[in-house]
Amino acid sequence: MSDQLLDDTCLEGGSNVFRYQSDDEWFYLARLSSDAFQYFLQQVGLAKLRNQSISSELAGCISESLKMQDPSAFAISEIFQPLLRCVKARDVFRRYLDLSIRSNPIKNPDIAIDSEYKVELWSLWANFQSQYQYNPIHNHSGFLSFVIWMKIPYSHEEQAKLDFIRNSNASGTAGNFVFMARDFRKECIIMNPSMEGCFSIFPSSYRHQVFPFYGTESIRLSIAGNFGLKEDLVEDNA
Ligand SMILES: [Fe+2]
Repeated sequence: MSDQLLDDTCLEGGSNVFRYQSDDEWFYLARLSSDAFQYFLQQVGLAKLRNQSISSELAGCISESLKMQDPSAFAISEIFQPLLRCVKARDVFRRYLDLSIRSNPIKNPDIAIDSEYKVELWSLWANFQSQYQYNPIHNHSGFLSFVIWMKIPYSHEEQAKLDFIRNSNASGTAGNFVFMARDFRKECIIMNPSMEGCFSIFPSSYRHQVFPFYGTESIRLSIAGNFGLKEDLVEDNA
């Protein structure tokens, strides 16, 4: 099997994972603090009460996607800032920022990447996925995007044993999250309940998909969002 399967056990003990394919195809994977996890869970509850669907704006073929809010700006402090604290990711992030600045002229390119004020949260939503449903290959708008896995009601190991999957040479796919690089290399993030509370942040243009899962009525819950570069950093061409 050619798929690269990323073992989530490397996330235990507060460590993180960085994978590089190219300057605009990389991702960073880490675990949220328990406080941040509880905060995002609470925000999902509030989103359910507000019930603002954004499914028609998204690629997902899933039950529902609801708009979320981030009143304490945890997306910046708990998702974006950890990326800058990762030494390997930081170097790549600097090159990615340079690439983005060239395509979106910025008023002040000398601002250090250490400044979180370069980046702001543009959108945040919760995904409710039932068995058989999927999220086809897509990318996002913005500069950086992220996903937080909140509830994974199945394990990759169980899915791979299903009759119609176990003989496949791509048996690593069911229920998993897969990044797809332009040269068709895959980076498969294995999903099981231990991934609850983990997140990935990646360039918004980096294509990815979520395969269907089977054999449970429980809902898979993830949160996704997009960061953009602040408008006041982008040159006004008027
Ligand atoms: Fe996505």
